[in-house]
Amino acid sequence: MSFFRCPLCGAPLAEEDRALRCPGGHAFDRAKEGYVNLLPVHQKHSKAPGDDKGMAAARRAFLEKGWYFPLREALCRIAAEETGPAPAVLDAGCGEGYYTAGVREALLAAGKAPVIAGIDISKFSLQKAAKKYPDIEFAVASAYRLPVAAGKADLLLNVFSPLALEEFRRVLKPGGVYLYVVPAAYHLWELKEVLYEKPYLNEEKETPYEGFAYLDILPVSYSIHLPSQEDIHALFQMTPYYWKTGREGAERLAGLESLDCRVDFRVHVFRRA
Ligand SMILES: C[S@@+](CC[C@H](N)C(=O)[O-])C[C@H]1O[C@@H](n2cnc3c(N)ncnc32)[C@H](O)[C@@H]1O
Ligand SMILES: [Zn+2]
Repeated sequence: MSFFRCPLCGAPLAEEDRALRCPGGHAFDRAKEGYVNLLPVHQKHSKAPGDDKGMAAARRAFLEKGWYFPLREALCRIAAEETGPAPAVLDAGCGEGYYTAGVREALLAAGKAPVIAGIDISKFSLQKAAKKYPDIEFAVASAYRLPVAAGKADLLLNVFSPLALEEFRRVLKPGGVYLYVVPAAYHLWELKEVLYEKPYLNEEKETPYEGFAYLDILPVSYSIHLPSQEDIHALFQMTPYYWKTGREGAERLAGLESLDCRVDFRVHVFRRA
């Protein structure tokens, strides 16, 4: 059986060679890379939603170099500590799968038998994810309409992706854990100093979301040294600034040969009440 449910009728999906199929006869073909598209046409609000091909490639290139490895390690540690022997894990807005796969490895290394799935609205990201991580089930879907049964997940990951609270409340098992990674005050500060005349610090919030109890807020902060324009550009391209920055700022950044930059995350750790 698939981790996922039929997006049209909510029934379980049986796994066939090239498709997922519900008892009602709704079928969803596997793309050649191995992911399935579970986003019904009427829920698709643009032709190519989510990260585009260039952004997915930049994210893959950047993450592969290990610049955010300490964040992944932090997520892996919490995942191993907070789950039982056979956890169901969902990564909502998983991108190209770096954290999804990291958490899977960590749970296996801890002697557990995890079942792991990732969804993202970008097919370009999932092409990369599914190809590299064939043991994880990936589906194109919206975080706001998860094709997942109520109470299915023991652990939910959300790394820099949309906060779809209602759906997250629905799919998390009572007692399940939700890891929500957000940028902290100084995240990418030196990059912003190059891009903007007057950069702003990120706001740090602590919101008591209904149905979730705070277990912890874990800061993950350090500096990275990006040694080439290629690395700098990959980082720039995976940030929201890529679309918002004026020409002058982008040109200043393009003139740099290297960049020392702070990364500053906060991992909000919640338990589903
Ligand atoms: C900043 S990226 C983070 C990706 C990944 N978690 C990581 O950290 O590498 C945000 C991701 O959210 C996805 N996304 C945007 N809107 C979405 C939605 N409504 N449902 C699911 N994913 C969405 C984008 O396609 C993109 O992959
Ligand atoms: Zn169905």
